[in-house]
Parts: sequence; C-alpha cells; structure tokens
Amino acid sequence: MLRRLHREQPESFAFTPDNQAWAEAQISKYPQGRQASAIIPLLWRAQEQEGWLSRPAIEHIADMLEMAHIRALEVASFYFMFQLSPVGSVAHFQICGTTSCMICGAEDLIGVCREKIADKPHTVSADGKFSWEEVECLGACANAPMAQIGKDYYEDLTAERFAEMIDEFAAGTVPVPGPQNGRYASEPLAGLTTLKEFDSGHTKYNGSVQRAVDLGDTIRRIDGSEVPLVAPWREHGANHQPAPPKVKINESPANPGLQAPKPDRSEGRPADDTGATKAEAPAKSKANPVSKDEPAGEDKSETAKPKAAAADVDEGTKPETLDAAREGGPDDLKMIKGVGPKLEQLLHSMGFYHFDQIAAWGPREVAWVDQNLEGFKGRVSRDDWVAQAQTLADGGTTEFSKKVKKGDVY
Ligand code: FES
Repeated sequence: MLRRLHREQPESFAFTPDNQAWAEAQISKYPQGRQASAIIPLLWRAQEQEGWLSRPAIEHIADMLEMAHIRALEVASFYFMFQLSPVGSVAHFQICGTTSCMICGAEDLIGVCREKIADKPHTVSADGKFSWEEVECLGACANAPMAQIGKDYYEDLTAERFAEMIDEFAAGTVPVPGPQNGRYASEPLAGLTTLKEFDSGHTKYNGSVQRAVDLGDTIRRIDGSEVPLVAPWREHGANHQPAPPKVKINESPANPGLQAPKPDRSEGRPADDTGATKAEAPAKSKANPVSKDEPAGEDKSETAKPKAAAADVDEGTKPETLDAAREGGPDDLKMIKGVGPKLEQLLHSMGFYHFDQIAAWGPREVAWVDQNLEGFKGRVSRDDWVAQAQTLADGGTTEFSKKVKKGDVY
C-alpha cells in the first residue's frame, strides 16, 4: 500500500529527556561520520514514545543524525514497522494477509477488525483505543493465521479468539502472545511425531513468547525512564552524560487506557548492563548467582570492562541472608509483583525466603540486590518489593497478591 505522511501533523517533536539521552547514546556507538546508522533505532524509539512517526519526528531525527530529511523519510516510509499515521492509544493490530495466513483465515480476522475497530485500515476506532492494517508475511506462516500486536506475535488465531483478544485489550489486559490454540510453538497440530522425548519446555512458553512475557512491553509506550541506560562507550564520547536513575515504569500519558497486564509478565526484563564494577563485584558464592546463572552470550570480553567501569552505580550493601527457610517453610515470594517462579528460585539461592527479610532492606540493600539479580537487575526498586513485602509480612494483601491467590496470575 502507499505509505505516505499523515495529512495532519503536530507542530513539533521532542524526545523525552530520558529518550533523548538514550538516543544520544545510540548515536555515539557509531564512528564519526557514520551516525546515520542509528536511524532505525531512533525512529523506533520515537515511535515507541508517540505511537507513530510524525513528520516533525522524522525530521528531528534526521537533524540529530545530520542527514537530509528525505533520507530519513525514505527509511520511515519503507518499513511497515513504522507507522506514519496515528494509531490507537492501546494497540495497533497488524494482520498478516499473505498466502498461508489468507488460506487459514486472515480475511476473517480482517472482518473482525472492520467490525470491532474501524471499517478502513489506518483508522483509529471511535473510542480511540485501536487501529489496524493488513501487512505482508511476518514469517510465522507455520502458525497461520497470525497478527502482530504492538511488538509481539499472536498466532494460530481464529476470528472468535481474535475478537475475544480485542475485548481483553479493551479491558486493560494483555493476552499472552504466541499460539492461541494451545500449541507450544510450531510443532504439528496433532502433537510431536518425532523427537518425542525431546524436552522443549524448559520455559513455560516457547522462546519468543517467554521473552515477550518477560519483557512485558507488548503495547507499552516507552518514555525512556524505564530502560536502564548504560552506554559505556559514552564515557569516551562527546555525548557523555550520566545514566538516568532507574525508576518505576509509569503509565504513559500517551497511553492512558493501558492498565497493568493480566498475565504474569513480571519476570525477566533483562537488564542492559552487567551491574557491579569489576573491582568490587561480589565474590561468586551462593549469594552471588552470577557464578551459576549467567545468561548465555553475556559479554565477558575485554570490551565488557569499560562497560562495568563506566556504570556509575552504588554497589550497595549485601543484606542479611539465611542458609535455609525458617521452620514452616518459605513465604510465597511470588505474591510480590515482579517475582515469578524463576526469580523466586533465584532469591532462595541467594538466601532470601521470607517477606520480612525483604521488608527489612534499606536503600543500600536494595541497591545491592538490584545489581545482583542476574537477568532481573533493577527489579527490586522498579516494583518496590520492599513496600509490598512489608504489607505481606504484616499479614496484609496487595492488589497483586489478591490476583495471585485468585489464580489470575499465571
Ligand atoms: S503468510 Fe502470514 S506469516 Fe507468513
């Protein structure tokens, strides 16, 4: 389809201060004269912030990269990952209409969009929450028909399930991405016929869905404050600025209808940094899971060193730990928003079993734990575990713990 700028454009565009810092860090990755290479991440971040790319946004980014405006426009108009007109405040649905999906029912999904969202693509629904479009093959043909919603794939759809999902989004929840018919991944519909003993289920969901669930930003707008900015290269570059503090994710004003998602999307936003400095990194021990659970592919090379050295972080103080849970067994730490089964296991391995242990952490203990939760760095402060744990330790409940008890979190 013809991709052109929307007829109505805002006066101007500016990144939020955090996104501006993030964007400058991206630019500084590239050698002098090659800054234009940052065009796609910057356009994407602008879209994550605003929901779509306006002409002022494209031109602002072109100016940042010292590119001709038309060159940035060429990129923005080429890829259909970039939205050139306003999208729904909650979600934009991209329905694959290519062969496999078409044969398997994409037209029915488009029918649902016409009925529930708007008759025409790229039109925001009457309540402002949704928009849709048909796109070309998204490479998930084995799970046709499918749709990309925000940043994630929803596969093996039927018109009924898709309509239901739109209602779920409208109600402020985010359905778990991936196959919607019970398939784990793209194994045969009738089940495995070979490699039956092969255990593909190391995680609750398949790799990409698990990642989506862990990240939990399917339809979330990004104002920059929720992403720990670590730009080790910036220490040496002209754009050096201190990393912004890690803060809790705030509901974006640009996305007022978005509520906390229903599924447990609490685990696993991997931090972008390696945390502790080389000189002061805690020794590998039971309380330091780094030695056991380092994610595959973590950069341990020499180039990783400046990264750690540049991170101007408070090392914190290691809290009191226990060798084992007290009599009566551990508390269900999954009652704390942000703690899932994997993280609970990790906390146990570090010597934390009870709400009152967590409730007793002060800022320096929080800083230590935040940096030593390999794969989950920053989670303690982001989800304010201490306040939650205090309530739970006192025998109270939180909104989240109520949901866990009701079985609404899985
Ligand atoms: S045809 Fe729809 S994902 Fe390939």
